[in-house]
Amino acid sequence: MEITTKHSFHGELSVPGDKSISHRGIMFGAISNGLTEVTNFLQGADCLSTISCFQQLGIPIENDGSRVLVHGKGLHGLSAPSQVLDVGNSGTTLRLISGILAGQSFQSTLNGDASIRKRPMKRIFVPLSKMGARFQCWDSGHFPEHRKKTSSDCAPFTVQGGKLNHVHYYSPIASAQVKSAILLAGLYGDGITKVTEPVLSRNHTELMLSGFGADILSADATAAIWPEPKLEGQAIHVPGDISSAAYFIALGLISPNSEILIQNVGVNPTRSGVLTAALAMGGNISLLNKRTVSGEPVADILVKSSSLHGTAIGGSQIPTLIDEIPAIAIMAAFAEGSTIITDAQELRVKESDRIATVTENLNAMGGDVTPTEDGMAIRGGKPLHGAQIKTYGDHRIAMSFTIAGLNADGETTFDDRDCVTVSYPSFYEDIKKLLN
Ligand code: S3P
Repeated sequence: MEITTKHSFHGELSVPGDKSISHRGIMFGAISNGLTEVTNFLQGADCLSTISCFQQLGIPIENDGSRVLVHGKGLHGLSAPSQVLDVGNSGTTLRLISGILAGQSFQSTLNGDASIRKRPMKRIFVPLSKMGARFQCWDSGHFPEHRKKTSSDCAPFTVQGGKLNHVHYYSPIASAQVKSAILLAGLYGDGITKVTEPVLSRNHTELMLSGFGADILSADATAAIWPEPKLEGQAIHVPGDISSAAYFIALGLISPNSEILIQNVGVNPTRSGVLTAALAMGGNISLLNKRTVSGEPVADILVKSSSLHGTAIGGSQIPTLIDEIPAIAIMAAFAEGSTIITDAQELRVKESDRIATVTENLNAMGGDVTPTEDGMAIRGGKPLHGAQIKTYGDHRIAMSFTIAGLNADGETTFDDRDCVTVSYPSFYEDIKKLLN
């Protein structure tokens, strides 16, 4: 795709459903009794991978393109898959499903795309092994024709589940995927399972599982879950994804004479750090019509063109905006002064190494970014010019640099624009709707 001139953007839009919440609706519905209805489900490739994995585990799931019906079979109703479970590009599917599979009396084998096969799984193998599950990784070069054992800690791997012990796990990283995998395994434990994180990560699992009837308590950065609850199917309405809204927040703030209303966005405080960061940069942002939907805080976000300035982002803020850092980096490139991002080493193990991919692409456009081990320093205010963007198949890189390209001089091209289907299939059409 080529993007050429600078434009103004006006109007209203609703971004697709939240990815984290959509995944959890399917997973928790599958292990609950009776019907779960998920509306405004994100029909992106990642969440569709979750549906197909649970179908292979024997759960009937109907998807009419917006509403999904999950015919749950209870905590012990899954059946052994006859094939390798393919999670595609989805780390959330892989890590959370592993927690559930750890509690099953059968073996399952999981695999995914080239990016997934590089992502670290030791972070879930360690706690789930302490609970009693067994993991074996396979050399992806020989897989699936031949299964050659490897000591790497990546997919493809087999998990042998069974009766689990309870643990109190002190996680070395603030990761909702790790926390959720342990809490889900804790449903099959022999006592109360607890997870303490260094900093609280997104708490959708705690909120939604409690709505399904789990006994779960959270205080500060510790969550505790009681085993063998009777989970009952629920109606879940998924709010718009703040991670997808982030591109339109950036677009509205940096584009001249623009005003965008993003409706129905989840603003859970464990996810809304992009708002705090944008406000700290001088962004003109208001939250309207605040309400609670399916246990999650929701609001409409009004964004207007702003003169941004640099800021410092780090510490306990990082888990609240980890997926939005590529979009924040684009805002920072258009801000006066420096933006310094620290404590974000997790960026190195996302769908791409986002410290490297943001740095490479912003510098190719004439930006001034210095990468560090755990973040980056962005000196803003340099005029950006079009460039050839290398997405590394990372949806968030493709979307962030589309926003940059729309505000750069000259032409910006992309090696792969279709990777946006992972989380936002209608991204380009939605941008066009705001063009005037
Ligand atoms: C997610 C948690 C985050 C986030 C990912 C979705 C989730 O990952 O980056 O896109 O749904 O739990 P980590 O928990 O590994 O930080």
